[in-house]
Amino acid sequence: MSQTFYITTPIYYANSLPHLGHLYTTIVADAMRRYKRQRGFDTYFLTGTDEHGINIQRAAEKAGRTPKEQTDYISGELKRMFRDFGLDTEHGGYDVFMRTTAPFHYEGSQHIWREIAKGKTPKGNDPIYKGFYEGWFCAPCAEYKSEDEYFTPDGSEVPFCLIHERPLDKVSEESYFFRLSDFNEFLIDKIENTPGLVRPEARKNEVLSFVRRGLQDLSISRLKSSVSWGVPVPGDEEHVMYVWLDALTNYITAIGYGNEERASIGFEKYWKNVVHLVGKDILRFHTVYWMSFLHAAGLPLPSTVYAHGMWLDVDGRKMGKTIGNVIEVDVLHEHFQVDAVRYFVLREMVFGQDGRFGYENLIERANADLASGLGNLASRTFSMLTKYREGKVPAGKIAEENYIHARRAGLDPDGQELVSVVTHARDQFCRRFDNFEFSQGLEALWAVIARVDKMISDAKPWELIKDERQSETLNAVLYRATETLRWLAVMLYPVMPDASKSIYSQIGLDGDVSRLDPADLRWSELAAETAIGETVGVFPRIDRSKVMSEIQQETEKRQEVTEEQKPLVPDASAAPNEEENFISIDDFLKVELRVGEIKVAERIPNADKLLRFEIDLGEEKPRQILAGLAEYYEPEKLIGRKVVVVANLKPRKMRGLESQGMICAASLEDGSGPIPAIATFVEDVEIGARLK
Ligand code: MSP
Repeated sequence: MSQTFYITTPIYYANSLPHLGHLYTTIVADAMRRYKRQRGFDTYFLTGTDEHGINIQRAAEKAGRTPKEQTDYISGELKRMFRDFGLDTEHGGYDVFMRTTAPFHYEGSQHIWREIAKGKTPKGNDPIYKGFYEGWFCAPCAEYKSEDEYFTPDGSEVPFCLIHERPLDKVSEESYFFRLSDFNEFLIDKIENTPGLVRPEARKNEVLSFVRRGLQDLSISRLKSSVSWGVPVPGDEEHVMYVWLDALTNYITAIGYGNEERASIGFEKYWKNVVHLVGKDILRFHTVYWMSFLHAAGLPLPSTVYAHGMWLDVDGRKMGKTIGNVIEVDVLHEHFQVDAVRYFVLREMVFGQDGRFGYENLIERANADLASGLGNLASRTFSMLTKYREGKVPAGKIAEENYIHARRAGLDPDGQELVSVVTHARDQFCRRFDNFEFSQGLEALWAVIARVDKMISDAKPWELIKDERQSETLNAVLYRATETLRWLAVMLYPVMPDASKSIYSQIGLDGDVSRLDPADLRWSELAAETAIGETVGVFPRIDRSKVMSEIQQETEKRQEVTEEQKPLVPDASAAPNEEENFISIDDFLKVELRVGEIKVAERIPNADKLLRFEIDLGEEKPRQILAGLAEYYEPEKLIGRKVVVVANLKPRKMRGLESQGMICAASLEDGSGPIPAIATFVEDVEIGARLK
């Protein structure tokens, strides 16, 4: 049975549209998996979307969608991008697109929770205990704020919400905790002593020094009343799991851990050799947290967590919509060949370090390395075969008596030198790829291209053809160039699947490159007399100024559209303008106004002002809402009336009764104080309809 290889990308948040970063990690994982598949491994490749938590809940609210609609939308967009770039199953890409909202994932996540709870920490304590989570709460947002969501103004003792610019309340909420503080020594020992567990070395040291500073226990649940969008904690429906616990667990539920649905994929089989590719931004979650969770649940650790660097713009700045330096994936797809993009990201970024991405750099590299490099070598070789040898690969051996002629043309007569250059480059390529050193692996192959180009230019086939005595020399030059192309096509398959297949079939070969192991390549296995296929250019030259000006125009157009939309959809992160007391549409959309029909309206004993309503909002059951209307309305007369309800107001108790929303009313003045006038509709409106 062949050895297995399981590779994962992070599952990307379903709160915002996919970008270059997501594309990048997935391309790397895809290339690695194609390489391993060629090498004979039984491979499995996972990507997907992380669909729970407050950020998704919030993004959905902002966009006026339900969380389910939001996650369907984003995962759909991500899948579209993957399809465009040939990363989907149909194109030999991922095996599973995980979505953490899948029922089997709920099952598996709850299973790991139970397993963790059953076990003991390395220090013999219960891994999970109940306590209080303390945090800064913003009442208008109805949520806890993390450090990057608040600021502390000079002179204030408490932080302020960035959105509302008002003080936050220190609130504590019941929560389950994971006893992470018991895992320090375990983590240090594992990470220090397991070769390749955390890579590259510099990142490993970062994690170690983080752990050495001491670990705090981790809150691993939130009350459902504050974060409703998540996997329920088994045995306690009041809580949902901390989103990272559920998200990380996707790597194992996908292959059948803790659920029947995917058991046939084979957790036992694939969990033996797994590589998590992640950006350096989320390394800590994949090492400190994930490894502790796994250990607590009695599961083996992954073989490798590899953290790569980030793409920055050409000037080394982080990419962002506000600076306008984002690389648009749709632009990439429209103007560049998928293989060129794949090649560029793998060649340009030294894996593990940050890299710079600019359209101009991409064009430069594509033109130099692909159009003038590999593409030109292929097209000149095929056209010489057509022109000089009627489209057939000639025999490559030079008879000893002709060595003298070959030498005169500057060609090594027995060709051993080139064989050793190519073989050495292949070995180096494999070693580099095994080691995630994609850029250096490709560099080794381009040295071969330069070498063969030089062989052709030195030997001058266009001169050789004129001389009968140089017939074998010409044959050898053509054979060696074609044989090198065969090797390159096999080796480059993981990086440029389309170009590789194309070159392979242009040579006249019909094997399945995706299954050819570069280690099995033997020089001169290309048979003489092979009839080459139809010649097609693999990498057309990119007209730099034309493409750049098209991209420029499109970017400007896109910016104009954004500008036009600004009054309607301002950037939520933009600084608030103190002169104008405006809120953004996004702020407005946070208030969920819905049409409700009053089903019950009654007085509350011993309360002069309050009325108790039961209002149908089209939900499972009517809401109980209390309102100070008793002095102004006869309750019976309100029954059947359609009103506007603030549906997402945090519930609060009045006179021992919970009020689950608010009825909107205008406030009229008659000199003696405000008189409410309940807002209603003239048209016949549907119960539950949202007001926007
Ligand atoms: N949902 C979590 C991951 C959970 S995994 C159990 C998450 N999602 S994310 O959408 O923010 O994706 C982060 C990942 O996207 C990074 O770790 C990296 O793989 C990729 N990248 C995001 N921006 C990037 C760059 N600018 N450059 C390179 N990769 C980047 O974190």
